[in-house]
Amino acid sequence: NWTMSDFIDQQIDQIRATVGNRKVLLGLSGGVDSSVVGVLLHKAIGNQLTSIFVDHGLLRKGEAEQVMDSLEGKFGLNIIKVNAQERFMNKLKGISDPEQKRKIIGNEFIQVFNDEAQKLDGIDFLAQGTLYTDVIESGTNTAQTIKSHHNVGGLPEDMHFQLIEPLRTLFKDEVRELGEQLDMPHELVWRQPFPGPGLGIRVLGEITADKLQIVRDSDYILREEIKNAGLEKEVWQYFTVLPGMRSVGVMGDGRTYDYTVGIRAVTSIDGMTADFAQIPWEVLSKISTRITNEVDHVNRVVYDITSKPPATIEWE
Ligand code: XMP
Repeated sequence: NWTMSDFIDQQIDQIRATVGNRKVLLGLSGGVDSSVVGVLLHKAIGNQLTSIFVDHGLLRKGEAEQVMDSLEGKFGLNIIKVNAQERFMNKLKGISDPEQKRKIIGNEFIQVFNDEAQKLDGIDFLAQGTLYTDVIESGTNTAQTIKSHHNVGGLPEDMHFQLIEPLRTLFKDEVRELGEQLDMPHELVWRQPFPGPGLGIRVLGEITADKLQIVRDSDYILREEIKNAGLEKEVWQYFTVLPGMRSVGVMGDGRTYDYTVGIRAVTSIDGMTADFAQIPWEVLSKISTRITNEVDHVNRVVYDITSKPPATIEWE
């Protein structure tokens, strides 16, 4: 009779036995997996765990604060938050090719993580939120050939730590159950998938601070309205994109020439295939009105009605 609380006890014993009085490093991304690993490890070894949370400036509105409030504030993790926004923006200046953007963000992430890790003394272990699906899929991930994927918190190649991967035998739904059992907040445990390159691949083409702001603000409105409509669990993933095109609109007596925001919302099991979500018109209408009213420089909102394939979920 295997239960999640047995699993927790087992893992804690095992982590303690492995680590002894040595030190562990964890890369927190703000996602479910690394957060659960953080809370579990903290429960097992307390302040022998140090976490690094890189804010690359491509996170959603309120996300960094939520991670810090919850994991540091509520659970007491020792977190080094790195404000690397400027560093990423500088590297991304003038870059508009999606694959190049992904590579730059991935590499920069590893560099920032490395730089911080190097300042720490006497770390023997690196903890990672590897899941069972990562274990069985590694090497045969077809998505990798379509878009170069990266997960924040990946292993820096030139570092030689011993790995601790307490979620290796679990599927995603079990990780969520584990998070619930560890008394982690709902928003964290049920968080929708979020790509490592973050909003960087939702501003199409070159990334600028203004464009990031539009995506961040419109995405926040979308999330609020999906939540208000009670659709959070029905829709698998939902976000806004900024194609970077402008079109003519009218406001009062005046002509406007401003940006178009795209809404992407899909149902899916695993992200490998997806259908566009059939969000009720009233909800879409409210979202559109709010985005055009509340977000500067947006005069048009469109809804992406393509499935995967032939489209992908993200636009880049
Ligand atoms: P696509 O756009 O390929 O996305 O249909 C499928 C799922 O993968 C997520 N995604 C990523 N996740 N690092 C990640 O951890 C990445 O680089 C990345 N790119 C896409 C995407 O959000 C969707 O859930």
